[in-house]
Amino acid sequence: MNQEIVAQEDYWNKQASDFHRIYSHEKSGVSNLLDRVFRKDMFERFIFTIQHSAPYEGRSYLDVGCGSGIYSVELAKKGANRVVGIDIAEHMLQLCRDLALKEGVGSRCTFAHSDLLNYVPENRFDVCIGIGLFDYIHDPLPVLKKMREVASDKVIVAFPRFWTWRAPIRKARLSLRGCDVYFYTRKRVESLMKEAGFAKSSVRTVGKLFCVVGYGSR
Ligand SMILES: C[S@@+](CC[C@H](N)C(=O)[O-])C[C@H]1O[C@@H](n2cnc3c(N)ncnc32)[C@H](O)[C@@H]1O
Repeated sequence: MNQEIVAQEDYWNKQASDFHRIYSHEKSGVSNLLDRVFRKDMFERFIFTIQHSAPYEGRSYLDVGCGSGIYSVELAKKGANRVVGIDIAEHMLQLCRDLALKEGVGSRCTFAHSDLLNYVPENRFDVCIGIGLFDYIHDPLPVLKKMREVASDKVIVAFPRFWTWRAPIRKARLSLRGCDVYFYTRKRVESLMKEAGFAKSSVRTVGKLFCVVGYGSR
């Protein structure tokens, strides 16, 4: 693994439980309220991604940078036949396995320690998702290309927007903790999707994010 991935792995291993608590609403009243206000788009991108992942029955999904498994487990609960989540942080993967078992979908979910570029799937997936991932990827093009190659139907990804009040604050806050973060303009997202070889893509602004669906290959 390169130095940047090692730094990300270290950061996310330390952040795993706190990150999962954002979704599970286990935080105290004030923190919970702050998350609801300042991370509203995290919840909106969840709804966007799950809705655009339909239909679920009998389909297969690859969740890149699966974090604590919220997306993978939801897709399995909706009826997906096979869900594979990959992540570079082992502490995140342990949370995924616990959540999948707790929600009764452990037999349809597999979680593996890998970054996408080193991952060799046995078969293609119907859908590949990468949510909250491109914030932390220095060179997004090869990752997007590989996502397109492993997905036969569509790819769903999210990018944090460059022109928002929160971007410089977030950049400074995370860099103090040794975590690099990257932001994107709509023009850059559209050109990345083209360069990655998607036949068609749609980009929607969701709060401080772009939520993007890529279809087919050119
Ligand atoms: C903000 S979390 C998002 C988790 C989940 N997708 C979600 O939205 O709830 C980012 C995750 O991406 C993982 N990650 C960062 N770089 C990665 C890479 N190159 N390959 C795979 N996972 C990566 C981190 O370990 C972390 O768990």
